[in-house]
Amino acid sequence: MSSSFNPSDRQKEIYTEGALGHQPKIPVDFKSLELQASKILSKNAFGYIATGAGQEEGIFNNQKAFSSWNIIPSIASGIQNLDTKRQILGLDLPWPMMFAPIGVLDLARPKGDLLLAKASVESQIPMIISNQASTSMEEVAKALTSQNFWFQLYFSKSKELVRNFVQRAEACGAKGIILTLDTTTLGWRQRDLNNAYLPFIRGLGIAQYTSDPVFKELLKDVNLQTQKSAGNIFQKLRLLHELLKNYPGSYFENLKSKEPIKAVRKFIEIYSRPELNWDDIQWLKEISNIPVLLKGILHPNDALQAIKLGIDGIVISNHGGRQIDRVISSLDALVEIKKVVPKDYPLILDSGIRTGTDIFMALALGAKTVLLGRPYVYALAINGSKGVLEITKNILAEFEITMKLAGCPNIESITEEKLVRK
Ligand SMILES: Cc1cc2nc3c(=O)[nH]c(=O)nc-3n(C[C@H](O)[C@H](O)[C@H](O)COP(=O)(O)O)c2cc1C
Repeated sequence: MSSSFNPSDRQKEIYTEGALGHQPKIPVDFKSLELQASKILSKNAFGYIATGAGQEEGIFNNQKAFSSWNIIPSIASGIQNLDTKRQILGLDLPWPMMFAPIGVLDLARPKGDLLLAKASVESQIPMIISNQASTSMEEVAKALTSQNFWFQLYFSKSKELVRNFVQRAEACGAKGIILTLDTTTLGWRQRDLNNAYLPFIRGLGIAQYTSDPVFKELLKDVNLQTQKSAGNIFQKLRLLHELLKNYPGSYFENLKSKEPIKAVRKFIEIYSRPELNWDDIQWLKEISNIPVLLKGILHPNDALQAIKLGIDGIVISNHGGRQIDRVISSLDALVEIKKVVPKDYPLILDSGIRTGTDIFMALALGAKTVLLGRPYVYALAINGSKGVLEITKNILAEFEITMKLAGCPNIESITEEKLVRK
């Protein structure tokens, strides 16, 4: 492990630096972090990252759920050294945390996926490459060198394309596939709707598609003549300019080939499969040679169905409140799902992780590990891969301190007895 990434030293580091006149670049609390990011990002970019669905009560529900539990400390537990390691589906995690799959990281910073990969290598915390990344999975995998990662998949209308994404992910070294199931249609996101902004239309976040031979083949039947779009000529030219700029390859080659316009049209036509059902999921499991996990499960019956199909793990997630307004929180869902699944079944908690205490609570309630989402995106916006390392260190430092004060020398000792309902 890189010696510079040591959360245990973080508190001392901050106070020592402070004595020398340096303030932390990344605000330690989430509210200030989000505020700082909002000041440096464009309105469209910040809106896309921060937005929830509808009145955003899903985001609030996640926070409220964490607040409904308290931790019971344990004194004089004689802990000298902590063991924060965890294993999940063959992955060795130095801490029970991974980076959530986040699409269009270029909105936070150009080459965002590669900057995250750099932070992943330095911290040894695995990332999950998004289906909607702005850099192809092969390029990100290369930047990750030997660092383990998973790939997150959306099930598109073309099964051939899905198969190829899976095969590419396996070929470039992914150790697991997470199929995200809660986005068969895009949530009603008021900030994006007010801004009339969707990054994909501008050629952002579609690199897995544009680097795919099966997708390129599908472009052959796109007939631009028959599909006229709305808008005046200046708006169309501006959109075209943005698209040609964002699309891989040279601007003028893109202009000549018309491929970017065709690719966006095709992407919009096929990216989701609203009719997706359990047979499709079973098919995915059958064609995959690496563990398959399902993301977006909140109901115990869906968890049981996944287990019946031999699915290897579940990511309990409400997509950061981005899909349904007033959706139940992931943490509340974890409590119910934990009751029905076999004891050691891999459950991952995603949505609402902001602090080290949140991680502690999720583990106490039965999660094997958690996913960190928006906090690392804001930190990436503020200070690139260094920002990601800083926020990660902060969160894990608080996690370690909580473990010590609650009398937990290792991950296994973080159990429900450490918590009490408010
Ligand atoms: C800007 C943004 C883009 C996202 N893109 C994806 C994605 O491509 N695939 C996916 O499965 N989830 C995606 N998510 C959801 C995250 O994986 C995760 O579920 C969510 O961020 C958790 O909520 P939190 O960040 O509030 O903790 C995205 C979330 C955000 C904020």
